[in-house]
Amino acid sequence: MYLSLSYTTLFVCFYCAEVVYSQDASRTILNASRTGLPSSDVVGSITIPTTLTSVSNIETSSIFSLTSSASSIIITAAPTSTASSNPSIAPFPPVGSIPRDYTPAGLSRLWDLIGPVEIPPITTTVIPQTPIALPSPPPALYPPFFAVTPKDILPDLKFPKGFLFGVASAAYQVEGAVKDEGKGPSVWDCFLRALDKLLTRYFLTILPADVVDLHYYLYKEDVARIAALGINSHSFSISWARIFPFGAADSPVNQEGIDHYADVIATHLKSNVTPVVTLFHWDPPLALSAYYGGFASPNIVDDFIHYAKTVFTAYNGSVHTWYTFNEPQVFCSELGSFPFNLTLPNGVNSSNAQFQCSYYLLKAHAGAVKAFREMHITGEIAFKSADYVGMPWRTNNTEDVDAVERHAAFGIGIFADPVYTTGDWPQILKDTLPPDYLPRFTEEESKEILGESDFFAIDAYRTYWNTAPPEGIGACVKNLSDPLWPSCNLEVMVDLNGWASGPASDPLTPWLQATPQFLRTSFKEYHRRWPAPKIYFSEFGFTQPFEGLRTPAELSQITEDPERTNYYMTYLGELLLSIHEDGIPVEGAFAWAIMDNAEWNSGLSARFGIQYVNYSSPNLERSYKRSAFALCKFMAFSETLQALKNSSRLFQQHLQN
Ligand SMILES: *[C@@H]1O[C@H](CO)[C@@H](O)[C@H](O)[C@H]1NC(C)=O
Ligand SMILES: *[C@@H]1O[C@H](CO)[C@@H](O)[C@H](O)[C@H]1NC(C)=O
Ligand SMILES: *[C@@H]1O[C@H](CO)[C@@H](O)[C@H](O)[C@H]1NC(C)=O
Ligand SMILES: *[C@@H]1O[C@H](CO)[C@@H](O)[C@H](O)[C@H]1NC(C)=O
Ligand SMILES: *[C@@H]1O[C@H](CO)[C@@H](O)[C@H](O)[C@H]1NC(C)=O
Ligand SMILES: *[C@@H]1O[C@H](CO)[C@@H](O)[C@H](O)[C@H]1NC(C)=O
Ligand SMILES: *[C@@H]1O[C@H](CO)[C@@H](O)[C@H](O)[C@H]1NC(C)=O
Ligand SMILES: *[C@@H]1O[C@H](CO)[C@@H](O)[C@H](O)[C@H]1NC(C)=O
Repeated sequence: MYLSLSYTTLFVCFYCAEVVYSQDASRTILNASRTGLPSSDVVGSITIPTTLTSVSNIETSSIFSLTSSASSIIITAAPTSTASSNPSIAPFPPVGSIPRDYTPAGLSRLWDLIGPVEIPPITTTVIPQTPIALPSPPPALYPPFFAVTPKDILPDLKFPKGFLFGVASAAYQVEGAVKDEGKGPSVWDCFLRALDKLLTRYFLTILPADVVDLHYYLYKEDVARIAALGINSHSFSISWARIFPFGAADSPVNQEGIDHYADVIATHLKSNVTPVVTLFHWDPPLALSAYYGGFASPNIVDDFIHYAKTVFTAYNGSVHTWYTFNEPQVFCSELGSFPFNLTLPNGVNSSNAQFQCSYYLLKAHAGAVKAFREMHITGEIAFKSADYVGMPWRTNNTEDVDAVERHAAFGIGIFADPVYTTGDWPQILKDTLPPDYLPRFTEEESKEILGESDFFAIDAYRTYWNTAPPEGIGACVKNLSDPLWPSCNLEVMVDLNGWASGPASDPLTPWLQATPQFLRTSFKEYHRRWPAPKIYFSEFGFTQPFEGLRTPAELSQITEDPERTNYYMTYLGELLLSIHEDGIPVEGAFAWAIMDNAEWNSGLSARFGIQYVNYSSPNLERSYKRSAFALCKFMAFSETLQALKNSSRLFQQHLQN
């Protein structure tokens, strides 16, 4: 999923003042109680119009919280002094102090940094009874305009032949079994625990995803369940620390990890579910952070390329569509924040870590794609972008037009410009960030990076407006202490009259409103700015409001998810129009997520699944939600936009009566 740590924490804390989350008795993940933040934590305050409800691009900072008052939004953060002097947070050993000991003893030592992990209730691969018998589908909601059904959407339009109609997941978020079959720790195994210790101050608890969905042992059933829906593809990620427990190129391969994913891939192929594989979905081996600072160090480049080559060789011919990196911009933006910044190497600090990471990550991407080509690996490869190209909040206001450009440059352009169009950073970045923040490419590096992708992929959950900071873009760009520096723009989720851009999702994902009305414009912009022969809509999805508050006993309330269903139906309808009316070459769409999962530091309470997972059950049973059936039927049924128009006409009549 899209979320960044600081974004999530930002809003989790904001939200926790309102709601107590404490269900799923056996595995309470997020426990927020009504609490105020100590006033000493206020690190900055900006006065902006009350109609602004969201502040973005604060990722270079830290654990934030927002409180809004009548006329201002106050940004608060946990201060360094408290964080580092808090005795409950064990300091991470200095970078480079842990020896490269690639023996079982060395692996134990890495796990000792983490402490005990939860033992999963199941410890071998489960062979399900197949085929999975689908339960009877939900009845249509009435009247139809209350919740669109697949047959309400564009009957004459079809997805192109070979269209990948998929679901998505990511290793850390679904696998569990984090210490099994030779896996090394990933940074998430360690850092969520550190974060949990810090958040204890705010009466918040975040448990790490030691077990979650146990997809690691239940993948056969999971694949069978999506095959039963008729979904023809699954985009998942490989855990680097399962293939290389120590991460490094000179360290041993874990054959159990290789064999595991070989069977995962084979299981997909046998079920006619096309596997789409991401090499890196935010979970680097912890060892590399300990040895040299992970993605803040140039050493990461060769280690990643070696990992990529190993995986390419192992699964060459079985996987056609590959991604190197998931949402690199979000990943890198976390590196300067606690707890990821516990392992920054010399010369890199919280302010420039994001851009050092961006530089090395692009080199790692380019190197892996170069290897892909040189090794004649069959198929196609790219990375997954995230975020959106916005719209000026105040129409025709030149500062807001500039704000849109800044948002696009820092959000997508930072990785997409070098790869798709120029071989270089967006000019806006170069104009804002000095070279000791943002390393400049040599001519040779530019050549290596430009063109290293076969298609464009975008995780496009929503599209909003952008506006200039109240102090003005010029003043912000010059002021390194400005909380909005360096991106110097604000995201706005309401129009000028204060109306939301679309229906809200769960309060735990306040960054997400359903905005199908902007989908076509967005895809036009992606295609215009970063042209590629094909586009994958690599993730989209929605949290049904308050779903995480429900207990397993409320299964029937949980599986009835009309808002998530509407999100998918309206997005897919607009996507069809984008393909047929606008000529945008979209060749796949992937619903996030295959099932409920660990939403990073929001834990299990932010629910994105089209299937429910009973976390109280030792079998972690899955149940289809309405949205799963809607997706399943989408391709079978179709209708014209006329149906939607008719619906709204009925609605008008209804209002008049
Ligand atoms: C949640 O946190 C509060 C305050 O620390 C604690 O009293 C309560 O027992 C916790 N609830 C759960 C379910 O863990
Ligand atoms: C890590 O980030 C936190 C904010 O997230 C900051 O307070 C702290 O100073 C940073 N630590 C280092 C070593 O940069
Ligand atoms: C990958 O498969 C293709 C097609 O079979 C083959 O030509 C190529 O040599 C293989 N590459 C590797 C590294 O195995
Ligand atoms: C914005 O500018 C365009 C072109 O100058 C003009 O047609 C349009 O009416 C303006 N919109 C507003 C809301 O002022
Ligand atoms: C971080 O590093 C940059 C680049 O070397 C430097 O300009 C900046 O002053 C450093 N910031 C801190 C807080 O040390
Ligand atoms: C820079 O931003 C900081 C934080 O908002 C503010 O306190 C300071 O006055 C600004 N400096 C200038 C020169 O505007
Ligand atoms: C969830 O699992 C628990 C424990 O096995 C069980 O008691 C409960 O009935 C399950 N809930 C549903 C809706 O299946
Ligand atoms: C929509 O309304 C038009 C005109 O009343 C009608 O001809 C058409 O069949 C309706 N379409 C659907 C899908 O109901």
